[in-house]
Order: sequence, then C-alpha cells, then structure tokens
Amino acid sequence: KDNVKVGLLGLGTVGTGVVKMIQNHQEQLVHQVGCPVSIKKVLVKNPDKVRDVELDSSLLTTDPYDVINDPEIDVIVEVIGGIEETRKYIIDALNSKKQVVTANKDLIALHGSELQKIAAENGCDLFYEASVAGGIPIIKGLADGLASDKIQKMMGIVNGTTNYILTKMTKDGLSYETALKDAQDLGFAEADPTSDVEGLDAARKMAILARLAFSMDIELDDVSVSGISSVTKDDLKYGSMLGYTMKLIGYADQENDRAEVSVQPTFLENDHPLASVHDEYNAVYVYGEAVGETMFYGPGAGSLPTATSIVSDVLAVVKNMRLGVNGRSALAPQFDRQLKAANE
Ligand code: HSE
Repeated sequence: KDNVKVGLLGLGTVGTGVVKMIQNHQEQLVHQVGCPVSIKKVLVKNPDKVRDVELDSSLLTTDPYDVINDPEIDVIVEVIGGIEETRKYIIDALNSKKQVVTANKDLIALHGSELQKIAAENGCDLFYEASVAGGIPIIKGLADGLASDKIQKMMGIVNGTTNYILTKMTKDGLSYETALKDAQDLGFAEADPTSDVEGLDAARKMAILARLAFSMDIELDDVSVSGISSVTKDDLKYGSMLGYTMKLIGYADQENDRAEVSVQPTFLENDHPLASVHDEYNAVYVYGEAVGETMFYGPGAGSLPTATSIVSDVLAVVKNMRLGVNGRSALAPQFDRQLKAANE
C-alpha cells in the first residue's frame, strides 16, 4: 500500500476532528505506517452546511454506499452514532472486507459481540477505542497493557456531560439546567441528553469496559443504573460541607467469575483520586491483582481528543494490514476460559 484511504461516515464534532487530525498530523501518520493517509469520501446529511474544516466539497456524499462500496477505501470510520441503521452500515462494510473503526458506544455496548464475530469472519478489524472515555486509551490499556493481570475492580467517571454538570454545580454554583445547557453548547452531550443525565451512556461504557476487563459476556441489562437528574445543589453543598464530592461513578468488580456492574451518583471523600476529576474530564481507576492501583485520566469527550483515539485505531488497523493479521488481533484474548480450564 502506498496510500491509505479512509471513508468517513459522519462529519459532526468528532468527524471534523478526524479530518483535522489526518490533515495536521500527516507527518506523524507517515512516520507510523510509512505512507500517507487520506480521506477519500465523507458521508454527510447536508453537503451545503458550513463547517469548521477545510475539505474539498467533491469528497462529500449523502449516500452511505458511496463510501461503503468504494473499492479504493481501506478503512471506514463511523462517527454518525445511532444504532440500527449504523449497525447495518457496519455489517455491510465488514462484509465488503473493509476495516472498521467506530466511536459508537451505543452500538458496541448492544451489538459488540455480534459485530466482532462478523469482523473476524471477514478477516477485518473492528476497533472502538473512542467509544469509551474519548481520548483516554483505556480500551488498549485493558486489552493490551493489563492483559496479563486479573482485573478485580474498576471505578470510572466515564460521562463528560454529567461530570461537567456536577463540577459546575459544585464549584460555580450553576443550576442543573444552565450547566446542562453549557455542556450541550460545548458539544459534549448526546443528541438526547437524557442518556447522559440518566446514566445510560455511562452504563453502556461500563459494560464495554467490564467485558474487556473480565472477559465475560456482560449485557446492558446486567448493569444497574441511576443518573443525576434528581441531584440538587443542596445535596452537593451539604456533601461538600462534610468533606465529600459527588461524582457519577461507574463501578465494576468481579469475584469467582461473577461480575457486578453499576452506575450511580456517589459521594467520594474529597481526597479520593476521582474526586478531583473536573469538568468534562474522565478517569478510570483500575485495580489489578498483580499491578495494584492504576488510574487512566484525560479528556472524555470533544472533537480532537476523541479523534486522537479514532486516528490511532486507523493506524493500528493499517499496521495489521501490513502484517496480514486483521481480524486476528493480538489485542483480543485468543482462547476462551473454558478451553484454558479444560487443558489445564
Ligand atoms: N455524551 C458523552 C459524554 C460523549 O458526555 O461523555 C462522549 O462519549
């Protein structure tokens, strides 16, 4: 390959960031994979919309299959969100042997296992680093960095919108409504912010993390969830008078092959490492039997941080293409637990 061509589904906040990363970090990308990486086509809803990015209008299309079926495109990057329609696009892309990188936590939480299987059958990668905690490499941290350890427990602030709201209510005395409106204006909130404030977005991300950390099938229904919509400024004020900070905490632990995953507003002691995670920042505390305590911290949302994870996934896919190992990623466990136990 002397030029990697990317097809982009979606050109919103994150899609725009992906285009900018590819344009502005070209030298770094060439350094990583040995050839230029360029955008070949972009699916948009409205080609005439004014956007904060320089992109030749001839690259834009309103037909997803212009992107998915383009024979020159190697990697499809999906940043449109949504579930059913997007699931179909990704399945069609994998079946036409495209590598896929997605930021879609809803889709991965609900259909990740099915999609991974289809990817493997087609000899394709399906990478999703950006689906959890934006710019923090937590997926590769669990799947690769900590692969040798037994993860026992995780605590995560994995929703930027609610962390922003709680921070602004606590520190700046903003009302819940104003803080939510600001988060929406800054582009962190979901199209329907109910899934942020009621904890569903965090639950989906925790299900993805727990699956990886514990190598177990964890469904969304297994996660018990409560959000922050009924938290008042007084709750936060009295908590802070007593030395506590409220955070929306995703919690996951496992013992004897039984996992428990939940999301709920939680008072943390002010000196707890997660208590100082402010604004839209995310953090995931991971406790492994051998490594002990680790903490992954960084921007959990936003255009360029999320794009960093996506474009790094594109590089990982291209490196696998060079080795001819797509769909057989060294990041995934190679054998299931039963098989290991039976052979012991
Ligand atoms: N709405 C999400 C958040 C965006 O606030 O964290 C990033 O997944």
